[in-house]
Amino acid sequence: MRPQISASALLVPHSRIRELADIAMSMDGVLRLYFGESNLPTPDYIKRAAAQALAEGYTYYTENAGLPSLRRALAEHYGRLHGVGLDPGSEIVITASGVQALCVGIRCLLDPGDQALVLTPAWPNGSSIVAMSNAVPVEIPHPLRGDRYEIDFDALKAALTPRTRMLLYTSPSNPLGWVASVEEQRRLLDFCRHHGLWLMADEVYERLYYPGAKAGEPAPSILRLATREDAVVVIQSFSKSYCMTGWRLGWLVARKDVAARAAQLNEFIVSHAASFTQKAAESALSEGEAEMARMVERLKTNRDFCRAALSQMPGVTVPQPDGAFYLFPRIEGLADSFEFCRRLLLETKLGLAPGVAFGAGGEGSVRLCYAAERGILEQAIERLAGFLRRQG
Ligand SMILES: Cc1ncc(COP(=O)(O)O)c(C=O)c1O
Repeated sequence: MRPQISASALLVPHSRIRELADIAMSMDGVLRLYFGESNLPTPDYIKRAAAQALAEGYTYYTENAGLPSLRRALAEHYGRLHGVGLDPGSEIVITASGVQALCVGIRCLLDPGDQALVLTPAWPNGSSIVAMSNAVPVEIPHPLRGDRYEIDFDALKAALTPRTRMLLYTSPSNPLGWVASVEEQRRLLDFCRHHGLWLMADEVYERLYYPGAKAGEPAPSILRLATREDAVVVIQSFSKSYCMTGWRLGWLVARKDVAARAAQLNEFIVSHAASFTQKAAESALSEGEAEMARMVERLKTNRDFCRAALSQMPGVTVPQPDGAFYLFPRIEGLADSFEFCRRLLLETKLGLAPGVAFGAGGEGSVRLCYAAERGILEQAIERLAGFLRRQG
């Protein structure tokens, strides 16, 4: 008999963003706004720091939790940005990307058959990683009230079962751009404390936040409210803030016992993130502020341009996002966003991500990443407007 792939692996759903991207990648001349990535290269000072780290011999294994010097730099960073004191030795674990932080974090918290509440529409990997841990994602959509997404606490409560172990939310959100207010974070924390749940906050877009008094000011972190003893895990990444998507470097902040376990499990997943990239990330933290502020200014202008243009299209509603680099317009009458995006791609060579990819509450919308140059965004808007016009 031919050995088969495990039934549990086969249950993990495909990413529908990838499915769309796979079609787009076989085509020329596509405006690729389906991935969450800026087209800006990694800043030169970070590349130079990586080259220097290689020359200095950062080519060996490091600790499973990552270089102590990078963890110290991150602890200082949290002190500066959020006024939060973290112990670099026991509360921070470096990971080989935000995805890997999610993987190891979720693996530490869930047993097979456990349930995780996931606020959606959300980047699909959170739910899929829960499924990959043989646990069950239970998606709770954000309702749109007026011009703002909210958290449906009644729905969260109604979804609780004896197997519910954690709640995962993303702020700033991919794809909504929604940012949890401090009051909403307080209610999430109270909810999890009250019901004995883990609270996992994906904060990878923390630095892409627009209402701040100055560009680069972070969105509020749940760590400002949590105590050391709280069952809170924060997922983070260098990908978005420092244009380092291809480097695969992230971290998690967690209660000591979780951080220790995550570091131990890292041994069996990747052992640790690449050593010279970890060293280069120290330079990103210490020298990156000015460049990041410029990037946030540019993104804010892009957001305003795209949102104004989309708002003028008949049947399109697009709430104001406060963070990340996405718009998630809802299109009146849209029932199959994958088919819409497939046709949009084949007919106009504009690649957007279908809303259905983002779980409950996502169908009926499409996601546009506005981190590209203005010229590309102008063409994208033109192609989308023309396509919608032709739909009648
Ligand atoms: C919400 C969210 N979390 C985590 C990640 C992971 O980022 P990376 O694995 O590149 O660090 C992404 C990437 O798109 C994301 O959108």
